[in-house]
Amino acid sequence: MAAIFNMFRVKMGVVIARICLLLMLAVYSSYGGGCNFPEGWTGGWFQSGIPGLIYINSTTMQGKGDCAETDSNDKFLVYDRNEDCYRCLVIHEKHKYVLQYKETYCRERDSLSTMCESITGDAALYSMFRKEPRPIPEPCPFHPAPFTFTYSRGSGDCANPPSRAESCTDDSRLLLRYMACPDVPGTESNVEELICLATWKEGSTRYLVGLISQVQRRNSISTDEDMYRCFVYKGQHADKTVTYTIAQSGDATCNGLTSSVDGSRTMKLTNIDDEHNRCHFPSWVVEHHKWFSLDHTHQYHFTTKNATLKIMNEDGSFEEKRLVCHSILEQKDKQFVKLVAHLTRGCESGHVCVSVWRRGGGVLELQLGAALHDAPHHACSTGHSAPHVTLLSTSLYPMRCPMLGRYTVVDSLADRRRRRQQLTIDEATGEEVAEKPVECVMGHYDSASVGCGAAQDTIVFQSACTSAVYTCYGSWREGNLGLVVAGAARPSSRPHALCFLYTNYIANDSSGTAVQYLSLSGVSRSCDRAVLPGLAGDKAYNLTLNGTCEQSSKYNSVAVRLYPALVVLLIPLAILAR
Ligand SMILES: *[C@@H]1O[C@H](CO)[C@@H](O)[C@H](O)[C@H]1NC(C)=O
Ligand SMILES: *[C@@H]1O[C@H](CO)[C@@H](O)[C@H](O)[C@H]1NC(C)=O
Ligand SMILES: *[C@@H]1O[C@H](CO)[C@@H](O)[C@H](O)[C@H]1NC(C)=O
Ligand SMILES: *[C@@H]1O[C@H](CO)[C@@H](O)[C@H](O)[C@H]1NC(C)=O
Ligand SMILES: *[C@@H]1O[C@H](CO)[C@@H](O)[C@H](O)[C@H]1NC(C)=O
Repeated sequence: MAAIFNMFRVKMGVVIARICLLLMLAVYSSYGGGCNFPEGWTGGWFQSGIPGLIYINSTTMQGKGDCAETDSNDKFLVYDRNEDCYRCLVIHEKHKYVLQYKETYCRERDSLSTMCESITGDAALYSMFRKEPRPIPEPCPFHPAPFTFTYSRGSGDCANPPSRAESCTDDSRLLLRYMACPDVPGTESNVEELICLATWKEGSTRYLVGLISQVQRRNSISTDEDMYRCFVYKGQHADKTVTYTIAQSGDATCNGLTSSVDGSRTMKLTNIDDEHNRCHFPSWVVEHHKWFSLDHTHQYHFTTKNATLKIMNEDGSFEEKRLVCHSILEQKDKQFVKLVAHLTRGCESGHVCVSVWRRGGGVLELQLGAALHDAPHHACSTGHSAPHVTLLSTSLYPMRCPMLGRYTVVDSLADRRRRRQQLTIDEATGEEVAEKPVECVMGHYDSASVGCGAAQDTIVFQSACTSAVYTCYGSWREGNLGLVVAGAARPSSRPHALCFLYTNYIANDSSGTAVQYLSLSGVSRSCDRAVLPGLAGDKAYNLTLNGTCEQSSKYNSVAVRLYPALVVLLIPLAILAR
């Protein structure tokens, strides 16, 4: 019993002694100041050879210790809680995403300067790359792409065939197409994508840290150890040629990289001078810098001295295309141009055929080939059947509509059937009566007048109770097919319009009299030639000509007389019906 009590006393003593020690330590370290790591270092960092990430916050660097003292520059004394010892870390921030450090062994505390002085010049230098929060890539420092390049992995220069480095629409990416050289062992054809994360300069040496990924083995899992690479590069500009010598690290560190001609892999990039065969888009195309596709899914933006066209998704999602005018093949009266452009889409690039038509003031049609060709002269050599994209600028100019006249909408069978179903029994008389208000359906019209205003620039669809007005902004014919781009009377900053496709012909009506028919379809997406007028599209009508604009038909004059009364009667009914 006494023995147990004694043991308890001894244990208590040990516990008290420990508590006292901890208290003393706490007082000591708070007296010693403690310190903070710079705020910008907070996050998760990757270091080659260390599994997982190293997390840094204001007080602690995971795996190294708590900040105990600093010279407020690059030296930090950290306290390792687990080992109960101190080490000096000399940390250099090379870039907000790159920290490099050297360290001492963990031992008893001494002054900051004494401890840090024990780090020798040849001590190992470690590099940490930020992973969390996710770094934002920066533009790659190699301009102007594309380049041809030679490379060496230590067994001789692979120069023949030359390899190619191509730009991507996102300038923080570069596509490296390595070729295999039959005369150089160990070379293989391969495509790598480089994402540039950080560049900095030490003396006259320039560094780059980037992520390398294997484009052809996209699905294989790449680790940080495979992807992070450090580069030393040097650019030489002479007249119009720019060359870069680049040395790449063999692992996910910057170790052993001292010059741009000495590394696990070295490359020499030379820009492909294609400046001399660049063209400008014609002035009538770049008359407006910003264009919208009819359906508002894409924005078309002419930039860089009228030589570049950027195509962006309207919602900002990234599927940007960049077109640089390469050569103009054909041009007609400021109405049509056919040209070859160099297109970059993601990291893919090649030459495409582009045709542009001017359809009105502020209305263009564009046909952009889908296939990418390496050789410019192949781009337009094959027939070119890409869909037409209708483009609108924010300034649209009303113009005279085609097919002027007053028209009657021919009821389709379906319409007649619907009408018949709407016949109801009048309770008082027991007779079938047409319930007129139900006929007042949005988008259901009885008549149309085309170009009947003073300016002859509007299309008006009308029923007894509703109407729709479009202004014509461009019209043209392709054989039997007529096309009109028409939209809201007053375009806003985001122009809205439809494309009407039509055919007109003379045929006998049901009573055997010859009448002029106009079959019409409205398409909101584009001037899609595959839409058959009167049959498909977002809106479709068959119309018969009911007279010229000047002829005020009996039907129309009746409608006009009835119209105010009907509006008074129908609007409350329409509201009730909802
Ligand atoms: C820093 O992280 C450590 C653990 O890694 C944690 O104990 C400490 O409370 C954190 N400090 C701050 C200020 O968030
Ligand atoms: C681009 O084209 C527009 C319209 O023709 C012209 O006003 C402008 O000066 C051109 N810009 C350059 C840099 O050539
Ligand atoms: C227009 O007429 C054609 C045949 O003449 C018919 O097939 C089509 O359904 C009609 N369209 C409408 C909207 O009435
Ligand atoms: C239209 O009707 C006329 C007689 O009214 C007839 O001579 C002609 O052949 C008819 N045309 C068609 C296409 O049916
Ligand atoms: C116009 O259409 C109405 C109704 O269909 C008809 O009564 C009238 O006779 C037509 N006018 C002409 C000139 O064809």
